[in-house]
Amino acid sequence: MSETGWAIIVHGGAKDIPPGLEDAHRRGCLLALAAGQAILEAGGAAIAAVEMAVRALEEDPTFNAGHGAVLNAAGEVECDAAIMDGATLAVGGVAAVKTLRHPISVAAALLSRTPVLLVGAGAEAFAGAHGGELCDPADLIVARPGDPGCDTVGCVALDRHGNIAAGTSTGGLTGCHSGRVGDSPLPGCGLYADNVVGGVSLSGDGESLIRTTLAARLMHSLEAMPPGAAIQAALTYLARVGGEAGLIVIDTEGRVDWGHNSAQFAVAHARAGQPARAFVNRAQDAQEDYP
Ligand code: GLY
Repeated sequence: MSETGWAIIVHGGAKDIPPGLEDAHRRGCLLALAAGQAILEAGGAAIAAVEMAVRALEEDPTFNAGHGAVLNAAGEVECDAAIMDGATLAVGGVAAVKTLRHPISVAAALLSRTPVLLVGAGAEAFAGAHGGELCDPADLIVARPGDPGCDTVGCVALDRHGNIAAGTSTGGLTGCHSGRVGDSPLPGCGLYADNVVGGVSLSGDGESLIRTTLAARLMHSLEAMPPGAAIQAALTYLARVGGEAGLIVIDTEGRVDWGHNSAQFAVAHARAGQPARAFVNRAQDAQEDYP
């Protein structure tokens, strides 16, 4: 990997985007991309770029993560997030958390520690002890007239030193059972990163992504084929159990690609020498081939 071969892609969830909200999704993805891109352009680490991009998505009430998370059947917000460092295979995750403004940053604080995944009150206590930003759960709730909320947000980044990282964050599914945990905080299901293969972040129906360990399948395919073909293979396998998904990928050569079987999937991406672009549908992304 050359010294200038950074790349970054973010997503804002694989679901139907209500008419009139497409621009908000593109804009939000571009703002998050810019937060991560600034770190990569300055020579910073992929793991820091992923955390900053996902924080921006968590802050934006357009997206179902952090501020703007959907409500479960009990009328409560419960968020999941995870981040993975492809240099070390360190991974940190939190699940079913109600009082964290930025679940991705608490997940990042776990990267250098032994537990991979903390849930509920235990995760919130860890956040309180390690500088995590606690909030009133009511502060995360936003009115969504006519908008059922999209799915997970995520980011994959490759830095100038060849390090790859991936992250996910979600408010789960509207009306889901209290305590339900989806794919987002589970490595191999909602995300994975390995410097010798690539990085992936997924969105979609969590139970389907868990049953198929779709992130792990995507990573295995990436060992043998380019990102676009690996994404298609993953979506074909997903059809075995059904369900919607959106997938973003960067491989070790800095090839960026994405795909989905949902109606829409908000994405923005950029690479060294290529401008930032945002889309809500893969078919709108005119550049079919990423050399
Ligand atoms: N993909 C997010 C979830 O199912 O929780």
